[in-house]
Amino acid sequence: MDFLNELGIKAVNQSASWGEGYTDTQDAGVIESINPATGELIAKVNATSEEDYHKVMQQAEQAFAEWRMVPAPVRGELVRQMADALRKHKDALGSLVSAEMGKIKAEGDGEVQEMIDMADFAVGQSRMLYGKTMHSERPEHRMYEQWHPLGVTGVISAFNFPVAVWSWNAFVAAVCGNTVVWKPSPKTPLTGVAVQNICNKVLEKNGYKGIFCLFIDSEENKLSQKFIEDKRVKKMSFTGSSEIGRMVGMKVAERMGKSLLELSGNNALILDETADLDLAVPAVVFGAVGTAGQRCTSTRRLIVHKSIADNVIPTIANAYKQVKIGNPLDADTLMGPLIDEQAVQNFENTVAKAKEAGGEVLAGGKRVEGDGHFVEPTFIRAENHWDIVQTETFAPILYVMTYDTIDEAIAMQNHSKAGLSSAIFTRDIKNAERFLSAVGSDCGIANVNIGTSGAEIGGAFGGEKETGGGREAGSDAWKAYMRRQTNTIFWGDTPVLAQGIKFDL
Ligand code: UN1
Repeated sequence: MDFLNELGIKAVNQSASWGEGYTDTQDAGVIESINPATGELIAKVNATSEEDYHKVMQQAEQAFAEWRMVPAPVRGELVRQMADALRKHKDALGSLVSAEMGKIKAEGDGEVQEMIDMADFAVGQSRMLYGKTMHSERPEHRMYEQWHPLGVTGVISAFNFPVAVWSWNAFVAAVCGNTVVWKPSPKTPLTGVAVQNICNKVLEKNGYKGIFCLFIDSEENKLSQKFIEDKRVKKMSFTGSSEIGRMVGMKVAERMGKSLLELSGNNALILDETADLDLAVPAVVFGAVGTAGQRCTSTRRLIVHKSIADNVIPTIANAYKQVKIGNPLDADTLMGPLIDEQAVQNFENTVAKAKEAGGEVLAGGKRVEGDGHFVEPTFIRAENHWDIVQTETFAPILYVMTYDTIDEAIAMQNHSKAGLSSAIFTRDIKNAERFLSAVGSDCGIANVNIGTSGAEIGGAFGGEKETGGGREAGSDAWKAYMRRQTNTIFWGDTPVLAQGIKFDL
């Protein structure tokens, strides 16, 4: 695998931190990175020791002391160079994402493209960290706000977007003047090491150290606990399940730190009676089957108008049977494996529970025997209120249900603990506008004639309710990585108090 060489991944144990050779823990255990499509070992990664974790944190703090004084557009230049380096290694890194995580090569490359887009976006942002000026109620006063960096930003990312979600946080945090410490998922440590190797070269070339740092924690998450509780981490960005995210949010709040949470989704797509099915069917299948259903934006519930159900449901069931499952690195594969055996078991348990509840399996439903962690894309007729339908399973399982009125469809879509992504396919402007209005979707993302997954980076990404409320990547998400300071300056001779208060000494 040539792409491993290109990314500085050797067959022997890997370690990477803020600079090659600085952290080289040999005695804190080893994580094996396994290709989920073949079950083969790709390489081994050294977990970071507690001592080295503290060294990484110290380095990030020291780097912050300088970095915050570098002008923001100059910080942007460093991120611009990162974008260049990523462009150079897009093919190799895309292949590694695909080999280690199991998403198809086109999506692996797409993920690296998302990093590049994010870097470009952050470069522009570095010249647009705008504050407002306000008109003071008092004469000869000037009032304005400005934004300062927070300090060390922590990023805990998930296996499903092993590199893009880091870049959403890291590039924006960096142009805002923060330093970044990253803990990648123990299921995808190699992509973390590869990205850090790329960062290190760019940092070194510019005479920096510690702006982007990494540590590797084992599945037991011992260091992650310390990381979450570490007062040096001013902002903790966590991507993962609502269950763990709730714990992270509480622990960070306890120490009065700030958290940014991107948690579970249970995303629904509504097909109304006017939907253009040529548009809708591929969007449904990509949304539910893409990344083997392991996106937090994956389509999990399909809500179909009764009048078209008899036509649409068999069409989708049929499309499911055409999905080519196989090695994600093969060009004609549409769906790769799940991440590990545990995920396959969750898939099997979920299908069993859905059947127990009365669900009818219309396509798929079984694991694919043989090497790797493959399952069939699965389509189940179900009811919205069933517990299993209300549970996020990270697998390609789509539940289909029917409705009569648009209000009923919207109520079904909103009847979920999560509030990440949602979509309606319609040609009816009234239904579209209703879906987008205050009485419509309660999600952070609401799309019309576009599926639930595949968001661009320019918009703010995130969701409501148990999805955690965080917003990352686009729009004004940069504000989450800075602290706002309000400044009032008096330049006259006769001071006055606000609200007309008199206080004459
Ligand atoms: C995630 O699943 O964690 O909208 C993020 C999308 C991607 C990001 C998904 N751009 O599907």
